[in-house]
Amino acid sequence: MTSERTLLIIKPDGVRRSLVGLIITRIEQMGLVISNMRMFSMDDVFARTFYAEHNGQDFFPALLSFMTSGPVVALQIESPNAIALVRTAIGATRPEERLPGTIRADFSSQLTENVAHASASQSDAERELALVFGVAVRD
Ligand code: CMP
Repeated sequence: MTSERTLLIIKPDGVRRSLVGLIITRIEQMGLVISNMRMFSMDDVFARTFYAEHNGQDFFPALLSFMTSGPVVALQIESPNAIALVRTAIGATRPEERLPGTIRADFSSQLTENVAHASASQSDAERELALVFGVAVRD
């Protein structure tokens, strides 16, 4: 199978709680390849653009406030099936659906402050990687 690229973001709560190394280790232990990495702080415009699909939801203001509350670490990850593998590794959005062993289940019981984000589809991955790293996904 051809390699896919996806984006994992360690959110401000994950950085504040010193979970960066642990999350990177989990990704590397799965045999996935980290091919780019960036630590930065989202401003309001960036967060609104990144999460545009959620604009209008009741949780959108809280999400913006949280995502701009401190630095994040973004990882570009490559492997066959990277999108599905990283989504599975971080766990479900809803706390009660998170399986033990997933990053969110192990480190958060919160809906918004959930430690990590991962691209949901190939089109999301391409859009999000371009926003974060400023380059097209495909060489
Ligand atoms: P993430 O996977 O980054 O995508 C959108 C984020 O919005 C989600 O993680 C949560 O941090 C936050 N969020 C808060 N409430 C909800 C909700 N009801 N449904 C989906 N996402 C939510």
